Amino acid sequence: EKKAKQIMLEAHQLVAKLYHYVLTETPYGHEAMKYLQKRGISRQTIDEYGIGFAPDSWNFVTSFLQNRRFSLDLMVEAGLLAKSEAGKIFDRFRGRVIFPIHDSQGKVIAFGGRALDPSAPAKYLNSPESPLFSKSTTLFNLHRARPYIRKRKQALLFEGYVDVISVWQAGFPQGIATLGTALTEQQARMIRRNAESVVLLFDGDAAGQEATAKAINILQEAGVVVRIAPLPPGTDPDDYIRQHGAEAFSQQVLLQAMPVTAFRLKHLRDKHVIQDETDQKQFIEKAIELVNELDSPVERDLYLRQLAEEHSLTLEAIKWESRRLYKQQ
Ligand code: UTP
Ligand code: MN
Ligand code: MN
Ligand code: MN
Ligand code: MN
Repeated sequence: EKKAKQIMLEAHQLVAKLYHYVLTETPYGHEAMKYLQKRGISRQTIDEYGIGFAPDSWNFVTSFLQNRRFSLDLMVEAGLLAKSEAGKIFDRFRGRVIFPIHDSQGKVIAFGGRALDPSAPAKYLNSPESPLFSKSTTLFNLHRARPYIRKRKQALLFEGYVDVISVWQAGFPQGIATLGTALTEQQARMIRRNAESVVLLFDGDAAGQEATAKAINILQEAGVVVRIAPLPPGTDPDDYIRQHGAEAFSQQVLLQAMPVTAFRLKHLRDKHVIQDETDQKQFIEKAIELVNELDSPVERDLYLRQLAEEHSLTLEAIKWESRRLYKQQ
């Protein structure tokens, strides 16, 4: 008898093909095809990523699996189907563009679905945790991106799978993404096994900022060198590429990625209003405290010199202040 997990994997593979077929070969997929076209996702990308469509039906996948003699309760456990409190089994994904999620060996273990209908209760719906799928140990696109990440020793980390796909299409194949949750220690270790450094490209909104701050610490603890790429407020990497193109993305976003301390100093500068010498002193103290956290004396020196120049102070004054604050800790 086949193991339950093996059957779940088979079902995912079959259903991924079915969704892709519905999208690309049937009239039920027309609206979703138009939607993807409007978002600038090409036919080649649709095929490479196996993007599909789950029709707006309660029993399309349920009947498909039943006809193939799959145990429906097992399919509920696998996350492909859902079960009501009254015990009725139905399709989990309905009326959504489907993005297959693979494990690091390239097997489909889950799906992400984006609602076509803007009034749908949730824009994105992912498969639930299952014997195949754990969000905290999966990175979207890792199986495809791994060779490129290893070659460059660097990964690009995004919030969303659409961002990864859009950036891949623009010619940057080393993108991976978390799956709607904060980056975990396990994911950071998976990244460290393949890359020395990471460029963070989370959304330029409050949620993205918060996710960035948390990811920095987790990645640094895993021994990954972190840089943060600047995105204009209110845009995500997919928006940016569509508005400005691949060349601008490379020059204005990727190449402008900042080391963590530079990023934190910029953040501090952006939110600090400096009107008089008292404000300035306060800002400089906070900035020095940030620099003091660095382990490398060379790095500390570089940033202290920048601060001195920026505020037309002598390096001696800044260094003296740095030592004073360090002793106070
Ligand atoms: P966003 O909320 O930023 O999506 O979620 P978005 O960029 O506005 O979506 P589009 O561009 O209109 O389609 C960012 C990403 O987080 C993941 C998805 O991968 C999404 O692309 N996500 C979000 C989830 O996986 N689950 C969620 O519940 C929410
Ligand atoms: Mn195809
Ligand atoms: Mn967002
Ligand atoms: Mn976004
Ligand atoms: Mn988006």
